[in-house]
Amino acid sequence: MPGLHKPNGAGLSDGTYPQLAGQHATVLIKQMADVRDGRRENPKMFPFAGKHIIDVQEIADVAIYLQNMKIPHDNGKGPGTSLERGKALYKNDCRSARRKRRRQREEVLPCSGGQHYKYMLRQIMNIRDASAGTPTPRW
Ligand code: HEM
Repeated sequence: MPGLHKPNGAGLSDGTYPQLAGQHATVLIKQMADVRDGRRENPKMFPFAGKHIIDVQEIADVAIYLQNMKIPHDNGKGPGTSLERGKALYKNDCRSARRKRRRQREEVLPCSGGQHYKYMLRQIMNIRDASAGTPTPRW
């Protein structure tokens, strides 16, 4: 695994590089394809995602390799001051919706457990801001 995603797929706890180990291959393939096609803005990775650098089979191979890696548990954590509130929100607003969507079709839903707090926060902020006009929706 080149660069700062780290050999064990752990990324960086400061949230600049996501943790990829244990992520669903479907999600990884979609994200790589989206970066390649410019649907997912990622200037650092874009030059490495082109067809002349990595072909479709190689994307699939790397995705399966990462999916099978063990999720490291030393991911970047948040302050931990509102865990009960976070749990309640996840239970009420996220979990059932994610289950339902997964049942309805072969939904590409990322595994978010063990992801770096700062990366996750940034993705959620990007999604929130996208609805206010910034065109960079992320997981
Ligand atoms: C085959 C090699 C690689 C694979 C499979 C891979 C996979 C991924 C995936 C699935 C994401 C999450 C999608 C996203 O957040 O946009 C990601 C994010 C990222 N990758 Fe890679 N990557 C690879 C190589 C690289 C390289 C070589 C660089 C840097 C030179 C890089 C830099 C980044 C950065 C900075 C992000 C975070 C983007 C953000 O959220 O702002 N990646 N990568």
